[in-house]
Amino acid sequence: MDEITIQENGQTLSRVYFGRDVAGVLPHLAAFRNVLLVCDEEVLPYANALVDASAGQPGGGNCRLLCSVRTSEAGKNMDTVLGICCRLLEADADRDALLLAIGGGITTDMAGFAASIYKRGIRFAFLPTTLLAQVDAAIGGKTGINFLEYKNMIGVIRQPVFTWTCTEVLRTLPRRDFVAGSAELLKTFLIDNATDSYADAVSLLARIRQEGLQPVHEPQLLRLIAQAAAVKAGIVGRDQFEHGERRLLNLGHTFAHAIESLALHRHVDICHGEAVAMGILLAARLSEALSLAEPGLSERLAEDWKTCGLPVDIPFPITEMRSVMTKDKKAEGGKVHFILIRKIGAVCSRELEVSQAADLLANNNAI
Ligand SMILES: NC(=O)c1ccc[n+]([C@@H]2O[C@H](COP(=O)([O-])OP(=O)(O)OC[C@H]3O[C@@H](n4cnc5c(N)ncnc54)[C@H](O)[C@@H]3O)[C@@H](O)[C@H]2O)c1
Repeated sequence: MDEITIQENGQTLSRVYFGRDVAGVLPHLAAFRNVLLVCDEEVLPYANALVDASAGQPGGGNCRLLCSVRTSEAGKNMDTVLGICCRLLEADADRDALLLAIGGGITTDMAGFAASIYKRGIRFAFLPTTLLAQVDAAIGGKTGINFLEYKNMIGVIRQPVFTWTCTEVLRTLPRRDFVAGSAELLKTFLIDNATDSYADAVSLLARIRQEGLQPVHEPQLLRLIAQAAAVKAGIVGRDQFEHGERRLLNLGHTFAHAIESLALHRHVDICHGEAVAMGILLAARLSEALSLAEPGLSERLAEDWKTCGLPVDIPFPITEMRSVMTKDKKAEGGKVHFILIRKIGAVCSRELEVSQAADLLANNNAI
């Protein structure tokens, strides 16, 4: 699979391309006269290489570095977004410009948001450099920032023209971030395991954990990333604005956002993928407490998490998580659509009072 189109009612919303290296994006940029690059500081060499390579192309030189940003959840805010808008203005970026964001989910979320509000919206594309962004953040058009202590509280849904996904960039990704990203990969296959990818993903991730990411792993990894991207693309095409099916992609996220909010507030170092991993385990335990899940599901997942190096211990008491979850942006009148797991590849949404979910977890000693 080297290309996926995200389609809504037969209309193409966005495309996801897959390849080996960064330079492979160049043919997809050739049609744009003015490509401005925003990148995470950590991946500046990839952006510079792209600018140089574009200069050497026939009729090239259309890529310029706009700015690099230092990323953190605390810095995923309006100041950074307005900083990107300032640079766009200084660069005289017009409605014909394409903003290409190179980085992980923090970069793609912020750059996509900046491109969506600058001059009421210019086009943008993504070159995700983390596993998490490749399987999740860079697909589907959710862009935005954190506000006060709440995750992704301000933002818009607007689609990138395309996303270029390549495994070359993952070679420099710190191990911790690679492992954290695997939570979103496994999440996708818990939602849809039609290609039987869940078990393959666990065994490849276990190998990579032991051996480090080696070129020999990359073709299989790219295949799994593409399968996960295809699952997400299909769901987004059927429910772009999250009225129903797209909610399933939030598996583990109500808990994860509460964990991240508490962590952000208390300066505890937990990244998004790690919080999602913990959130999925809580979702599995809640599903068991509601007698929905196949017996032994949460134990099986916890074992898989350990095999892949994902965290299994929840760092905050449920009483503290409860009050944050009530303020989740998806909570309506104290109720939240919790995504529950029946078995691997089968999830469902159920609206529950936050307090009811918290009590069930507490009474079952699930946390
Ligand atoms: N828009 C969406 O649909 C969506 C979905 C999931 C997550 N998200 C958001 O994505 C964010 C998490 O994304 P993330 O995990 O990619 O985090 P991130 O962007 O912070 O990247 C993780 C770390 O890796 C570094 N890095 C990135 N690529 C690198 C590379 N190739 N080599 C070396 N270092 C590299 C970054 O500097 C950072 O320190 C969260 O803010 C989350 O809310 C959005």
